[in-house]
Amino acid sequence: MSTKESGDVPVEEFRQQLRQLTDWIVEYRANIEKLPVAPAVTPGEITRALPSVPPNEGEAFDAIFADFKDIIVPGLLNWAHPEFLAYFGCTTTAPGVLGEIASAALNVNAMTWRTSPAATELETVVIDWLRQWLLLPAEWSGVVFDTASIGIMHALCAAREEAVPDARTLGVSGGPALRIYTSDQAHSSVEKAAIAIGVGEENVVRVPTDESFRMRVEKLRELIARDLSGGMRPLAVVATCGTTSTASVDPVNAIADVCHEYKIWLHIDAAYGGGLALLPEEGAITEGWARADSLIVNPHKMLFVPFDFSVLYLRDLERLRRVFTLVPEYLRGDTEEAERNYMDYGVPLGRRFRALKAWMVFRTFGREGIAARIREHMRLARLFGDWVSASRRWELSAPVSMGVVCFRAKRAPDDFNSRLVEEVNHSGRAYLTQTKLRGRTAIRLGLGNILTTENHVRAGWELICQTANKLAEKYAI
Ligand SMILES: Cc1ncc(COP(=O)(O)O)c(C=O)c1O
Repeated sequence: MSTKESGDVPVEEFRQQLRQLTDWIVEYRANIEKLPVAPAVTPGEITRALPSVPPNEGEAFDAIFADFKDIIVPGLLNWAHPEFLAYFGCTTTAPGVLGEIASAALNVNAMTWRTSPAATELETVVIDWLRQWLLLPAEWSGVVFDTASIGIMHALCAAREEAVPDARTLGVSGGPALRIYTSDQAHSSVEKAAIAIGVGEENVVRVPTDESFRMRVEKLRELIARDLSGGMRPLAVVATCGTTSTASVDPVNAIADVCHEYKIWLHIDAAYGGGLALLPEEGAITEGWARADSLIVNPHKMLFVPFDFSVLYLRDLERLRRVFTLVPEYLRGDTEEAERNYMDYGVPLGRRFRALKAWMVFRTFGREGIAARIREHMRLARLFGDWVSASRRWELSAPVSMGVVCFRAKRAPDDFNSRLVEEVNHSGRAYLTQTKLRGRTAIRLGLGNILTTENHVRAGWELICQTANKLAEKYAI
């Protein structure tokens, strides 16, 4: 198509292109195991393979598609690969891909009810379905964001409104320092939120954890008392259900006791672990949630919704609206108090139609289908943990929790464990991550990819053991 033409790509051409793309997607998913997990590229290589100046004339789809296949895809880490055993094994799924394609075609903006009634109402419905699965009380309601990092920032803004009611209008300068308490295992998004909302990184107090990496509640109590006597103002406690390194779960009920006693906002970071609530036998994960003020869950971590889809729940969602509603003049005619306008519940104005893919995933698998898949990943994690414990070379670095196993080579230096992760990743046959636990390097396996089976986990274990054998010679251990 030449630049002299106006309008979009002609319909028949688009139909052919879309067919090529959807065929490619199906083949990619079906044959993904033949691809290396990690790309063999060096920094800057992709940039050098691409023109440094933008196209002046439009280009043919075939040329663009060829570069996509030849330059872009080989330069990607294949998160959808069943041997991708890193982070939280977050996964895409067939219904999730369909939802993403459909929402790209629709390109609606769910900022107000009127700018897309069905997108707004589907968001509300999906949020409420998920609320029921999470066993949160009926009065709780939520809002969809891209990530948990953005969600916690909003939760803490709502907490700030409670602690300092005129924070919205006057800001927070001049008053006592606001303090946020979270465990030494909590995600760095707590600090980022503190930076963003003007509380300050140094006002995030890291509470020590016990031998199972759970917040020590007596220490929390001590730290709050210390800060109060120093004239500081506790703003919020962030408890984590499924920490980033070990998937440990803080004792939420005991933390809620402290929060209620001191009247401090309780936020639950269930970004990863929230998904466990869908398994009836794991219902204990939800203990104490109903006593909190806000909770984050990332269905893009455990619940098979493709990235990105994060939900922030509040006991009283109106609080968030009071903090953020601000109707620009040009939207005034487009809004009614009685309508749910999600732009009122946070910083973003324009909002992607994220609920569509979640709705498709939730309907395709149902609660039982989702729970069965999670259950299987947990079984595989325990099985892997058994192999580790049964071996003389390895030891667990933390209790196996959810889909996460942290382990290390016994009697080997940290460097050995780090090198092992690098070598495995470099092989392209599996992909792992590492973390630091009590100052020592641990290898970390995160299961959750919908394509990962016992054979994949077994092959990953064999690769790890073979790599360790080779490295042991070099390290003379
Ligand atoms: C426990 C926990 N909370 C929050 C986050 C931040 O998630 P997001 O990438 O959605 O901001 C992560 C990321 O892995 C996490 O592990």
